Amino acid sequence: MINLQGKDILHGAQFSREELERIMDVADMFRNQLETRPSLDYLHGYILAALFFEPSTRTRLSFETAMHRLGGSVVGFSSAESTSVTKGETLEDTIRTVDQYVDFIAMRHPALGSASRAAEIAKAPVLNGGDGAGQHPTQALLDLYTVRSERGQIDGTTLVLCGDLKNGRTVHSGVEVYKHYQVRLVFVAPEQLRMPAVITARLKSLGIQFEETDDLTNALKKADVLYMTRIQKERFTKAEDYERLKDSYILTRQMVENLNPKVVTLHPLPRVNEIATDVDTLPGAAYFRQARNGVYIRMALLALIAGKIQ
Ligand code: NCD
Repeated sequence: MINLQGKDILHGAQFSREELERIMDVADMFRNQLETRPSLDYLHGYILAALFFEPSTRTRLSFETAMHRLGGSVVGFSSAESTSVTKGETLEDTIRTVDQYVDFIAMRHPALGSASRAAEIAKAPVLNGGDGAGQHPTQALLDLYTVRSERGQIDGTTLVLCGDLKNGRTVHSGVEVYKHYQVRLVFVAPEQLRMPAVITARLKSLGIQFEETDDLTNALKKADVLYMTRIQKERFTKAEDYERLKDSYILTRQMVENLNPKVVTLHPLPRVNEIATDVDTLPGAAYFRQARNGVYIRMALLALIAGKIQ
């Protein structure tokens, strides 16, 4: 039995394999329950604060949808401009205040480590929806869950992670959950955007095998799952560096059809140019199903954290 009651969700490395399996099983349960009714009442009367200091579409709206589908309600904001941050309020004071109102705090903030800072202050469990180029653990969970739902199992999968591995927080959290499974990891990035050395060193010390390359074509041939990511424009200090690297990888329908028609393609979204839109209608293009899975995974987390399910 696992126990997530009252826990913060801050980092991809915090989960055991047993916890990952349980969260995904609960997500499956909610997916099934929602087939026959629009919403459930596990969290009736509970309130989630969705504090988004940085832009978001899927993470915020799927947290909110998850809460509503569980019978709870939501307060919050979707940009710091509408809050007292513009008057000079610190993150700490904003969190201390919101903590007086709600039962859970889901947040996204540009500063690395911001969710952990909030969790130290708040009594309410904090769910990290992205802290700068740091972590995005709930995305990693829904990515893992999508691999499982698309392929039936995770063990035995060759996973190719491609794009901005330096700044992409979804892949930073992703490797921390994939490492619990028998997967082959291939990191595809331009030299300047490779997976941070702290992460690769950690994987090495844990005995996790991975390969690094800048060659998407070759990696695609052996992929069961291709996880494309956006070059993270907002993390670049020089515009010319972004301009040079922004179109490093563009997946086309022809590439998939010629090199690996069975590949499952994932993307945390938003996409900019890295997946041509004519890939969308291929059977393995799973990125919008992946977005939907975000609701089930976040429902599972909220219900487990509230202790409504063990
Ligand atoms: C990602 C993020 O915000 O890190 N988006 C998301 O949450 N689905 C990926 C991205 O912005 O590139």
